[in-house]
Amino acid sequence: MKILVLNGPNLNMLGIREPEIYGSNTYEDLCDLINAYAKEKRIAVEIFQSNHEGELVDEIQDAYSEFDAIIINPAAYTHTSIALLDALKSVGIPAVEVHISDVAKREDYRQISYVREYCFATVTGLGFHGYLKAIDLILERENEG
Ligand code: DQA
Repeated sequence: MKILVLNGPNLNMLGIREPEIYGSNTYEDLCDLINAYAKEKRIAVEIFQSNHEGELVDEIQDAYSEFDAIIINPAAYTHTSIALLDALKSVGIPAVEVHISDVAKREDYRQISYVREYCFATVTGLGFHGYLKAIDLILERENEG
């Protein structure tokens, strides 16, 4: 099992950006947490962050026949990007959408998610732990065959 974890714009600013919403742990802490959990579960993960929509599209395209699943937190592109939705549809790799905050309880402009249509599950409001939950969901899905 090889999972690609994709993080969108401003997630590199975790620990600095709006700590009352996203917490005080850093992006590096998030990567360490995901890598440690992957090791425990004996799976391979690759983590990529970009502030640029096209780079995220490229990364999804490059995942074709390379990765078994994608965990994606498109950040603000969640609410704007049909390109990311189309890229996921293009490669056909099972995907889980993750948000650190509980987007359903936030501003109206955060209530649309384009990638949600494609993703087989969405995890929101669990903080960094949401990424680990997404790994569990992917492994459960794989075991269900
Ligand atoms: C986010 C929620 C988005 O609305 C926001 O633009 C982000 C982070 C989250 O993880 O809670 O940058 O995706």
